Amino acid sequence: MHEVLERSTLAPGLSLLKVRAPEVASKILPGQFVIVMADEKSERLPLSVADWDDESLTLIVQDVGVSTRKLSHLSEGDSVQSLVGPLGRPSQISNFGTVAVVCGCFGIGPGYALARALKQAGNRVITIVEARNENWLFWLDRLEKVSDCLIVTSNQARSIDGREKCATNPLKSLQNSQKIDRVYAIGCTFMMMEIANATKAAGIPTRVSLMPLMVDGTGMCGSCRCIVEGRTMLGCVDGPEFDGHKVDWPRLVDRLRCYLNEETASLDAWDRENWHRAAERKAALL
Ligand SMILES: Cc1cc2nc3c(=O)[nH]c(=O)nc-3n(C[C@H](O)[C@H](O)[C@H](O)COP(=O)(O)OP(=O)(O)OC[C@H]3O[C@@H](n4cnc5c(N)ncnc54)[C@H](O)[C@@H]3O)c2cc1C
Ligand code: FES
Repeated sequence: MHEVLERSTLAPGLSLLKVRAPEVASKILPGQFVIVMADEKSERLPLSVADWDDESLTLIVQDVGVSTRKLSHLSEGDSVQSLVGPLGRPSQISNFGTVAVVCGCFGIGPGYALARALKQAGNRVITIVEARNENWLFWLDRLEKVSDCLIVTSNQARSIDGREKCATNPLKSLQNSQKIDRVYAIGCTFMMMEIANATKAAGIPTRVSLMPLMVDGTGMCGSCRCIVEGRTMLGCVDGPEFDGHKVDWPRLVDRLRCYLNEETASLDAWDRENWHRAAERKAALL
């Protein structure tokens, strides 16, 4: 069991969980992930690590289905049943020159860990954040500290905000005005695909952190297979970071959607059985 040391709501549907896990925290590197089970009967849930210290890991959880909802309903002092890691290959970190880190949704968390490591390696770091709206922005203060330039975009930006609606626009402007040596993207699959498309013509190496469906996370079940450069790769042991220009995005999206009906039905059932937990959480926040 791993104790929840801190729990807060960062945005609607986005929670921060700080979980005690000293053995994992002492080994974790940017780009790696852990697999968490909220309780004995939960699915095994892959989550990227956003921050860590000697004692604990900080995870950002986006509530999209039953397992993420169970985690989002935990409180300080509760425990998660299990936490396994570090899993996956670490991100490629080196002094490349000028790098852009593009992150959005839960990816702002692990994007911060990535930007920090790239800055420590001597890069000039430009961070671009893409948020659904202003309420989905968090950790901008942290990102500012590890970035030479921080650009914030919002899907609901109005022209008077002076903000762009999505991360691809400022990235394209940067590409036209200066040399960008490498781009990293982490967050929702659609955003990563758009970023990879935007950098392909310019030939800028682009690393994306894929989120294929996972079960064991150690290369045994094959559920996380994805096609990269025409070859079958396992997201959990060959990735999760891959060359974004070589990913077969349509196949990845198809596989991510293959259990959509079952996922929707099980979330409906869980919500019917646990409506009181949502009400309690809302009351606690008031
Ligand atoms: C390496 C890796 C790192 C990740 N890091 C984070 C993170 O830091 N924070 C975060 O909130 N989420 C992260 N995810 C995604 C998260 O694991 C899924 O959203 C979660 O498994 C969904 O489970 P669920 O039961 O809540 O929803 P489900 O009902 O299972 O699914 C709801 C939606 O999420 C997608 N999904 C389901 N399972 C997975 C899965 N295992 N991987 C990817 N997408 C899935 C489905 O396509 C569906 O659209 C990561 C995924 C991977 C593979
Ligand atoms: S999750 Fe089972 S092989 Fe990758």
